[in-house]
Amino acid sequence: MRITTGEDTTFLIAQAADAIEKLVRDTPDAVLGIATGSSPEPLYAEITARVQNGLDLSRLRITCLDEYVGLAASHPQSYRHYIAEHVLEPWGIDADAAVLPTGDADDPDAAAADFEKRILALGGVDLQILGVGPNGHIAFNEPGSSFASRTRVVDLTPSTREANSRFFDSEADVPIRAISQGIGTILESRHALLLAFGEGKAPAIRAMVEGSCTEDIPASALQEHADVDVYLDDAAASLL
Ligand code: GLP
Repeated sequence: MRITTGEDTTFLIAQAADAIEKLVRDTPDAVLGIATGSSPEPLYAEITARVQNGLDLSRLRITCLDEYVGLAASHPQSYRHYIAEHVLEPWGIDADAAVLPTGDADDPDAAAADFEKRILALGGVDLQILGVGPNGHIAFNEPGSSFASRTRVVDLTPSTREANSRFFDSEADVPIRAISQGIGTILESRHALLLAFGEGKAPAIRAMVEGSCTEDIPASALQEHADVDVYLDDAAASLL
């Protein structure tokens, strides 16, 4: 795990953006795994600026980590909507180039299995962007998730629903389930890049980096990943 910390988030974001730019210059049709949430938003904005300055991402293929069960693509808080708004449209990528789970499928278990199959059909993920939840979750793998887990329907914990309620009108509106890539699926990404900012993430970051590799802290599974870059502001790194 390579860890970069600093006060200047612009510098951290630029380095993370350089990793995406290098991937695309080396492999124009690479597979980039998008994380949703607020942490990677400045990274996606930086890539948008580079696209406006001529970076060509039109052949990039996109996938994602997770999706709320029950939200249609048109729902403003669906991850499909987030990816269209922050990634596909500003980066000039055709919606067909995105492999995403169907949140409002009649059969969410079948939709999860189909999503996993389509990730494998892409040949896997070259670079997976990750955030981390305050309880150490990655994607929507809550504490206790098996490190061997594959893409499936998961129940969201009350703490995650509360953390994500800031995006909804009320906590009651936050879905109770999600389709999430498994930890085993995420560990198969060839390169992972995790971003965390703010002191609210500091305990999870300490457990991820310095704690034991335990299913109680899903992000600690990344200790078993061969190629991970972690970018932290000083607040998120304050307990290291
Ligand atoms: C959600 C997503 C995660 C994300 C986490 C942290 O729960 N499923 O993939 O990492 O939120 O989000 P934020 O970056 O907004 O703190």
